[in-house]
Amino acid sequence: MKLHLSSYFWILITILGLIQTFRLNFVSTRDLRQANEKDNWFLKQKQDTIPAKLVHAGLRNATQMGDSAANIFYFIQVSDLHISKFQPKGHTIHFLHFLQSTLPVIKPEFVVVTGDLVDAKDQTRTVSAQHPEEWQVYKSAVEQGANTTKWYDMRGNHDCFDLVDWQAENNMYKTFGESAKLLDDGKGVYSWQVSKSFGEYNFVVVDSCPKKGPSRPFNFFGYLTTNTMNRLVSKIMSNSYNHTFLFSHYPTTTMLTGKSTEGYTFGDLANHFSIYFCGHLHRLTAGLGDVLKSYSKSTDSLELELSDMKDHGSYRIIAVDHDMISFVDIDLPIDEIPPALAEETIPLTETNKIVWPKKIKPAPVILITNPKDSRFTMPSKEPLQNVRKSSHIRFLVFTEYEPTELRIKVFMDDKHHPFPAKFVGSMKDNMPLWTTLWEPNDFDDYSTHTLRIEVTSPDGQTGTSQVPFRMDNMRMKIQGGVGEWVIWSNMAKLVSDEKKK
Ligand SMILES: *[C@@H]1O[C@H](CO)[C@@H](O)[C@H](O)[C@H]1NC(C)=O
Ligand SMILES: *[C@@H]1O[C@H](CO)[C@@H](O)[C@H](O)[C@H]1NC(C)=O
Ligand SMILES: *[C@@H]1O[C@H](CO)[C@@H](O)[C@H](O)[C@H]1NC(C)=O
Repeated sequence: MKLHLSSYFWILITILGLIQTFRLNFVSTRDLRQANEKDNWFLKQKQDTIPAKLVHAGLRNATQMGDSAANIFYFIQVSDLHISKFQPKGHTIHFLHFLQSTLPVIKPEFVVVTGDLVDAKDQTRTVSAQHPEEWQVYKSAVEQGANTTKWYDMRGNHDCFDLVDWQAENNMYKTFGESAKLLDDGKGVYSWQVSKSFGEYNFVVVDSCPKKGPSRPFNFFGYLTTNTMNRLVSKIMSNSYNHTFLFSHYPTTTMLTGKSTEGYTFGDLANHFSIYFCGHLHRLTAGLGDVLKSYSKSTDSLELELSDMKDHGSYRIIAVDHDMISFVDIDLPIDEIPPALAEETIPLTETNKIVWPKKIKPAPVILITNPKDSRFTMPSKEPLQNVRKSSHIRFLVFTEYEPTELRIKVFMDDKHHPFPAKFVGSMKDNMPLWTTLWEPNDFDDYSTHTLRIEVTSPDGQTGTSQVPFRMDNMRMKIQGGVGEWVIWSNMAKLVSDEKKK
């Protein structure tokens, strides 16, 4: 067969095109492989960061967990607010209800927003642009609706649409973001510590927006460049904390991660933090409160993606009780939330005061902290032996009513638990802790049991929470669906990369 001359020409063009594609890909991902000194967030890595061994919580002697309101604190994560000047339903109005009706009832230690603060789209939802009004609504709402709460935030892909770089005029997070200074001073990574009489806890945020934010859909993926990895290594690889938590916008499946100058991968870091909290994918998976989980043979750390505030009114309460971590994902009662009027999608007065919607009354929210939910156990990071030695079931109940006004029912494997629940916390100290006596040895039979708690408030609303638990510290397989598999396989890949080194 003889090819026509023009065929050779087109083959040549195709080959040149392919070469150019590879070259561009190589150049554009260079920051994932080596530190970029020209990046205005460049920081020379100290050479003396030697990763230390974790204190193995699994080897600690058990602490007797009883009915004292000690050794416990809790915080909130929300994600994907998408404050919008165009959308009357969901979006802004969900966030305002969260601030007005939920936050004052829960009174967390702090709130973390894992990105996508604004929607940054036009009316037709096709063109992206940063709108100052949306940013002003976010800033005013946090200032006026959460002014007694510590607040941490970060950028998501929507907050970086159309940005050239951090210095860009339209990087509005720089002006309106609550943690903009922390993020800038920390060159894309910042952290804070919660110091309690019973332990030290470390919280790390990483901005994984592409440094030169393209417009959508090209910034669906996040990046951890070598510069960023260097900073993460210095914040995370430490053994002086009971737990380290990492927050970013992107799940690891949608993140391209580089190596630190010393060669540490994200998989190496995963051994040193307990949970990676993220958002971004909204509601990808079915069931299980849309929790995604990742694990592998060499780390039992969890990756937990949270559903969005924008459409589902979702938020997450995380409690650390005697170093065991529990969480519950709750949706606002969105059927009770009427959309804003079309002319009120920017709920601001002329002096930037928020025009708050009418309050709603959500049902009581319950977070069970002992026994620990066996879908999310981390045997190397939590002292799970505490559960067997405990004398009481422990749970938090969040509601605006007094403890004496609540009706509490406890069911064990669908049977009424024989002991009454008792309020042992303190409303004054924001610790709504309840306990009830139990005998953990009765459940030490290598099978899975179910604890269900129902709380009814005087207005007739009932909140329910249920956890599967086991006494043998085994982690149950969770039915996370496609999302779980995707994240699992990615994490496995990160960890196998680490082994190849
Ligand atoms: C646990 O308790 C035993 C007996 O009291 C003691 O010998 C041991 O050192 C303790 N281990 C730890 C890790 O504290
Ligand atoms: C906090 O917000 C509330 C409600 O908007 C307001 O009444 C109060 O004055 C604010 N306090 C401060 C210190 O800004
Ligand atoms: C925190 O870690 C220290 C050191 O390992 C340990 O002694 C302490 O009991 C831990 N705190 C809790 C609440 O378990």
